[in-house]
Amino acid sequence: MKLLVINGPNLNLLGVREPEIYGREDYAALCRLVEESAKALGAEVALFQSNHEGAIVDRIQQALGEADGIVINPAAYTHTSIAILDALKAVALPAVEVHLSDLSAREPFRQISYPGMACLHTVTGKGLAGYREAMEWLVHYLRQRG
Ligand code: DQA
Repeated sequence: MKLLVINGPNLNLLGVREPEIYGREDYAALCRLVEESAKALGAEVALFQSNHEGAIVDRIQQALGEADGIVINPAAYTHTSIAILDALKAVALPAVEVHLSDLSAREPFRQISYPGMACLHTVTGKGLAGYREAMEWLVHYLRQRG
């Protein structure tokens, strides 16, 4: 089973960026957690981070025929990107949305998620551990589906 974990803009600055909201662990720590979680779940994982909307769309398209499912934190594109929503719908791979912070407790402009409309499940407000939970959910779903 092959998973693809995608992170959007500014997540490469984890640890530096608003640590009171996003925590003190850096992007390398997030990558380690994702790789360890994949190993524990008996899955393969590819990681991708970009600050560019089109690059994220390209990577989602590339996942077709390559990955069994996608975990995505579209970051700020969550609230703006119909292109990422359409890419997820186009490849029609099972996808889970993850956010470090609790979006329901934040600004009104963060209350809408376009990519989330193409996701089967959302994990929000659990920090880095949310990625493990999202991967567990996705692997469980893929194994149940067969
Ligand atoms: C985020 C929440 C978004 O609103 C924000 O723009 C981010 C990170 C999160 O993980 O909590 O960049 O997706």
